Amino acid sequence: MPAVLNYEPLVVAPRTAPVRLSPIQEEILQLKRERNAVILAHNYQIEPIQQVADFIGDSLGLSYQAQQAKADVILFCGVHFMAETAKIVNPARTVLIPDLNAGCSLSDSCPADRLAAYKAANPGIYVVAYINCSAAVKALTDVICTSGNAVKIVNRVPADRDILFVPDQNLGQWVMQKTGRKMRLWPGSCYAHVQFTVRALEKVGMRFPDAPIVAHPECVQAVRDLADEVCSTELMVKFARSTPAKEIIVVTETGMLHRLQREVPDKTFIAGPTDTCACNDCRFMKMNTIEKVRDALKTLSPQVDVPEPIRSQAFTPIQRMLDWSK
Ligand code: 13P
Ligand code: SF4
Repeated sequence: MPAVLNYEPLVVAPRTAPVRLSPIQEEILQLKRERNAVILAHNYQIEPIQQVADFIGDSLGLSYQAQQAKADVILFCGVHFMAETAKIVNPARTVLIPDLNAGCSLSDSCPADRLAAYKAANPGIYVVAYINCSAAVKALTDVICTSGNAVKIVNRVPADRDILFVPDQNLGQWVMQKTGRKMRLWPGSCYAHVQFTVRALEKVGMRFPDAPIVAHPECVQAVRDLADEVCSTELMVKFARSTPAKEIIVVTETGMLHRLQREVPDKTFIAGPTDTCACNDCRFMKMNTIEKVRDALKTLSPQVDVPEPIRSQAFTPIQRMLDWSK
């Protein structure tokens, strides 16, 4: 019996009306000028936050923007490890995050003490870390990567070195397939991306038979295998522009649909569903609200700090990544 859709898919249709900012968004723009602040927002942030951001992007693009920022204050609308990365690469700036509790399950899956113990038991191992990890973990690694440059970075690691890839086993597995390089994989994963299933995607695919599927590499292998394209959130924008398809199924956190709708306004985007929901929000990314953005600029808090020597130890592998991915 053919599977039936038992929910309404979340569909973001081409935009027609111009965007009008709310009073709180206008207040944020005013505070931003007063504080000489720049707002960096990840693609997964809610639409009202994306609308007041100076730059919206993936982890790689945001790292470059953070490093180049000249403003006194960087308000980082994303999760904690992202704000930490901004502080590591640009320590002279005040770095704010709307909610200090906006963590990441993937980052939490690799505590620094466990990685230190693994390294001690495996001397000489070359550690490649996905940027979704704490500053203390970054300080223990050889090079950082993001989903946008992981293949390039792993290809640069000297061929005679044994690699440990932390913390995302799904991204690591995808990189192994793309590079042919064997790596040891840390058993971590993103609680949100592993909720996408082949079954759920096949069901929505029947409703939109001509729509290609684009999936984030944090998804499990069966979902990646089903996808027409696997890439970082930034490359999803490129894919949406270049595909002749008019409808696209987007298998990542739902905030991505706002960015896609703005950048590619003539196409329709369908949120990748899970078995239980038409969309998939990261509960950490969604801790940031427009009120918290305003309050952070008003009070210049909460601030994100990375003490020395962790900061400078974490800076080296991040800088290596930024150099290698140019
Ligand atoms: P991107 O680097 O592709 O934006 O991904 C970040 C992330 O947290 C995915 O869950
Ligand atoms: Fe972390 Fe997953 Fe949320 Fe990305 S979507 S911030 S990997 S928990």
